Amino acid sequence: MTEDVRWATRPYDGHAINRPIEPDLDLLQVGPGTPGGEYFRRFWLPVAMSSQLGEVPVATRILGEDLVVFRDLSGTVGLLHKHCAHRRASLEYGRIEQRGIRCCYHGWHFDVDGTILETPGEPEDSPIKNEICQGAYPVQEVRGLIFVYMGPPEKKPAFPFYDSMDIPDHDLVPYSIHSPCNWLQESENAMDPYHSVFLHGRISGPQFPGLEHFVELPVVAYHGRDEGIVYSHSRRMDDLVLIRFHDHFLPSMAQNGGMFQVFKEPKIFSRTSLTKWVVPVDDTNARKFGWRHFNDKDEVLRQGNRDEVGWEAVDFYGQSAHRPYDEMQRNPGDWEAWTGQGPMNVHKREYLGVTDEGVAMLRARLKRDIRAVADGKDIAMPEGTKEKPFPTYGGDTVLRIPKDNRDDRALMDRVQRAVADVYFAAEKYEGGDRTDYIRREVGAKFPDAI
Ligand code: FES
Ligand SMILES: [Fe+2]
Repeated sequence: MTEDVRWATRPYDGHAINRPIEPDLDLLQVGPGTPGGEYFRRFWLPVAMSSQLGEVPVATRILGEDLVVFRDLSGTVGLLHKHCAHRRASLEYGRIEQRGIRCCYHGWHFDVDGTILETPGEPEDSPIKNEICQGAYPVQEVRGLIFVYMGPPEKKPAFPFYDSMDIPDHDLVPYSIHSPCNWLQESENAMDPYHSVFLHGRISGPQFPGLEHFVELPVVAYHGRDEGIVYSHSRRMDDLVLIRFHDHFLPSMAQNGGMFQVFKEPKIFSRTSLTKWVVPVDDTNARKFGWRHFNDKDEVLRQGNRDEVGWEAVDFYGQSAHRPYDEMQRNPGDWEAWTGQGPMNVHKREYLGVTDEGVAMLRARLKRDIRAVADGKDIAMPEGTKEKPFPTYGGDTVLRIPKDNRDDRALMDRVQRAVADVYFAAEKYEGGDRTDYIRREVGAKFPDAI
């Protein structure tokens, strides 16, 4: 077998690399029984918006499985395999009942957990009800999003409650957007702080109001966590050091810093504007589900618009397919960047540089955990309850720290690592106590910076 030729190495050498190379399927495939697919099935994932659930069932596809989701007339949400256990008619044409759903074809009636309640055409004493169930998965509804667990029941973790599901003064507005490509392309965009400099700045001009300083190359620090990767990136604006924290919890939950904010004054531990999960639909489609956080205190530019947040919509630049092609070409945003990599990016054909450290780190962590699940081992995953939520860090800290003319980048790196140390030390506190601790300790480390 000939070795794959990965790169052209001389001018006019396109012919050398005109043959396709297989993508990294162990990492990228998500269907049942694949290593990546079984890994994803260990987590709770958002798969629908509450606002989708009305009088008729909603057909959907998640991790390569065809499903229906509905709210029965008693108010309970059900998520079942789409094809009826009898003769596989689609339950998207089913009738929602007081309890569960009834197949349109021969009237079999299923509860939300897949139990067969009735097989009306069969004899009274038919044993079918006791012999089989419709395929079903457990769900949780949180702030307008429906989460599902699609793994083996005996491995089901408790639903992880993140602190960002309940930040005082934050109004969470759900949204969901499709991308016609493998899930990892969108997910790893959030592990790439350098793309903002170019895609959102130097190439097309600033795309996000308030973030004009993003055209500067940041000083980046990755802070490993058991459950994923938190990283910070810092830039200078006159005597201010702007430190933005990102969360990336495995497999695909991410939170970034503030939208529509101004960074002209010091502030400590302002919180995220966006919580999102990239959820695989199948190998070459993904759907993001998340919340835009609206909060008048931080979003002082008042350019957010909750009327533009929902199904296939969010209120900031370049996030979906719904723009004229000409405009996409002239002023591409994130969506064009990650979908433009093709249906399934071929990593062997990439040529990574030092700015790709975050992307490489994410892939390495995913591969490690995919292997662990395949070997029957447990993996670290976020744990949290309403009372003791899982702590997250996405958001901004701005400190007044004069420039070090000898090595300002080293100074910024020290500062962001010191701030991160305080953030992580604060994990022993909850809610307001945690915020107070962070503000007090960062203030104590940098007394002239506030
Ligand atoms: S196919 Fe559903 S009841 Fe027959
Ligand atoms: Fe971006």
